[in-house]
Amino acid sequence: MDKLVIQGPTKLKGEVVISGAKNAAVAILPATLLINGVCRIENLPNISDVRTYCKILETLGAKIKWFSDNEIEIDTRDIGCTQAPLDMTSKFRASYYILGSLLGRCGAAEVGIPGGCNLGARPIDQHIKAFEALGAKVDVSQGKISAKVKKLLGNSIYMDVVSVGATINAILASVLAEGTTTIDNAAKEPHIVDVANFLNTMGADIRGAGTDLIKINGVKELRGNCTYSVVPDQIEAGTFMLAAIASRGDILIKNCIPEHLDCITAKILEIGGNVEDYGDSIRVTMNKRPNKATVKTLPYPGYPTDLQPQIGVVFSIADGTSIINESIWESRFQYTAELNKMGAKITPQGKTAIFEGVKELTGAPVYATDLRAGAALIIAGIIADGETQLYNLEHIDRGYENIEEKFRNLGAKIQRVSEN
Ligand code: EPU
Repeated sequence: MDKLVIQGPTKLKGEVVISGAKNAAVAILPATLLINGVCRIENLPNISDVRTYCKILETLGAKIKWFSDNEIEIDTRDIGCTQAPLDMTSKFRASYYILGSLLGRCGAAEVGIPGGCNLGARPIDQHIKAFEALGAKVDVSQGKISAKVKKLLGNSIYMDVVSVGATINAILASVLAEGTTTIDNAAKEPHIVDVANFLNTMGADIRGAGTDLIKINGVKELRGNCTYSVVPDQIEAGTFMLAAIASRGDILIKNCIPEHLDCITAKILEIGGNVEDYGDSIRVTMNKRPNKATVKTLPYPGYPTDLQPQIGVVFSIADGTSIINESIWESRFQYTAELNKMGAKITPQGKTAIFEGVKELTGAPVYATDLRAGAALIIAGIIADGETQLYNLEHIDRGYENIEEKFRNLGAKIQRVSEN
């Protein structure tokens, strides 16, 4: 079992280059199943979710060539199998995109009921509703989800909740459907736009991605022979922005899209930090204790739930009492118990947590309870006085590329140690 050993406190200073977006990559990879050809994908993050996805695609008949840790070519001409391996797909959340893609390509699909971070109930009723609207029959039993259709027919889909995954799955299933599909109350996250851009580059006709009404005119086929570069990771960039604030540091964050970070920038300005926009990079600086504030997590362009634990660390050492209201995932305050072991004073009460700011955190053994909690606890270890040992690194490795190396380059004293 690996752990991270972090010696603090450190003020982070220097430059970091942001990787491709995890949540775009894990949708673009299955989207290649819709292509009867070869395509090249660049700026893929080198994370375990991407490597697992590539293995799943290979079991379905895809041929993958790696040119570097971040660049692959996928040949999806020989996709024949419609059953994805249950053990691999049930381990992570984004495997549900295989349903939309294989339904579109082959008219049938089967995956294990998706797992992923334990963030509370994670229903997929809106995914199923979208597939059924397009004519598919869906069955959920014996730990798997199966979907089947003779011919997908375009239709109007109204999402009862704003869902990233259901919006992308509805797009995937309708790209090759006959006729026009509309998705109303669609999610607007940058990775939705990225998946639509990828599919359009391959020959799809998707309009309106990034708004809450998306229109897909079905096309007969998607051609390959294209190269696509994954959008920079909004959440990784936000993680380093908040690390700069928490550590009273000075970080130049390169390869990011500042507009995707507007809601984080606004919050940083409110708590007394400084953000300079250089077009494709931003510099975040902080030279005092952060002010208290309130945050409510919301779908994009609201404040992202995936940056909630990271701002929780900032609030734990802020001047005054801050409040977070988590409106997306019911179990996303599990990290607060770990931060309290480090001297924080946080009281979670259902969907709300109250952060009574303390002057400093102190190092302690702590456990990553999910991916973003893990990133937040790294930041906590960097700013805490003394040694922090962070366990359960498999969560962090799923979604952050070379995270300890990136923090080390900013001055953090952080080592990965194997412990038997
Ligand atoms: N929901 C439903 N029914 C559905 C789908 C969702 O009620 O059929 C509800 C959920 O329970 C939740 C809300 O709708 O309350 C939003 O869920 P969404 O479907 O948007 O989440 P997701 O697609 O499963 C993605 C990211 C998550 C991120 C959320 C919200 C991927 C692979 N995962 O999940 O990322 O938190 O959107 O932005 O894209 C992470 O990266 O750490 C992570 C958890």
